[in-house]
Amino acid sequence: MKQITDTLSQYQNRVNTQLSTYIDIKSPISEELNKAMAYGALLGGKRVRPFLVYAVGEMLGTSLKNLDPIACAVECIHAYSLIHDDLPAMDNDDLRRGQKTCHKEFDEATAILAGDALQSLAFDILSMPSQGLDAATQIKMINRLAKASGDHGMCAGQALDLAAENKQVDLRTLETIHGAKTGALIQVAVELAALSKADLDPEHMALLNTFSASLGLAFQVQDDILDITGDTETLGKPQGSDIALNKSTYPALLGLEQATEKAQNLYQEALHALSQLPYNTELLELFSQYIIKRDR
Ligand code: IPE
Ligand code: IPE
Ligand code: MG
Ligand code: MG
Ligand code: MG
Repeated sequence: MKQITDTLSQYQNRVNTQLSTYIDIKSPISEELNKAMAYGALLGGKRVRPFLVYAVGEMLGTSLKNLDPIACAVECIHAYSLIHDDLPAMDNDDLRRGQKTCHKEFDEATAILAGDALQSLAFDILSMPSQGLDAATQIKMINRLAKASGDHGMCAGQALDLAAENKQVDLRTLETIHGAKTGALIQVAVELAALSKADLDPEHMALLNTFSASLGLAFQVQDDILDITGDTETLGKPQGSDIALNKSTYPALLGLEQATEKAQNLYQEALHALSQLPYNTELLELFSQYIIKRDR
């Protein structure tokens, strides 16, 4: 665990430094808006998605410098999704990353706009010239990120998640919800890193996709578990939020024991995909374990 948390914090520092260069707090048009963007994007967070961008990209031989914009773009989408996820109209939470949620620190309108602006910023970053990527690759990345964020990915999953409150959904539906609301963004982090290697063997891309699909689902299963077994202080967000809203989650559907088993099976599937890749996958193996063992 120590090795992985050390590497995680190195990449956290890197992406935080990069991200802060993109969020304009020195000469903004609206000081309040940019303050809220910085609040939602820069303070805390595990930086799981940037980690995946850096770890997969480095494994394939891409320089960290060329991975920076990808890591930042994906994290901007994630930060926006959290700001909106916490709004009263969605999960109505007051605590995020150990501090007041964006709409509590500012107000609802500012939080909505900060989320909107972070979403735009993601595509701004990915489309900037001279990011070390050729234009065709940049366009492909923008397209994949757009798909993963919108009605074919995160937003669709969030819509289904809200519709599944106070309902008993079947396992297949729950997998669709989790795959879309959380899996899609984790998968696209891996995919964009893989796209940074122009001549990647399509079979290796397919294995990376299999890996990230299992990991993405495992991540949300563990998130659901932590809502029950975690504590608010460690989580930095309110324990029991899912239960209060009667959310459809893995533990709600299967019980805690089987949900834990599900996470374990997904972890094994992720490892199996990695084992077929002709690269040094050790860091990704450790990270996969961290995903299902983490307490925050
Ligand atoms: C929380 O994501 C929301 C989910 C998609 C489950 P993270 O657990 O990655 O949140 P931060 O970025 O570390 O705060
Ligand atoms: C959120 O899932 C998924 C997102 C797209 C933000 P949750 O609603 O379970 O995330 P937390 O538990 O509030 O972080
Ligand atoms: Mg939610
Ligand atoms: Mg939530
Ligand atoms: Mg949750």
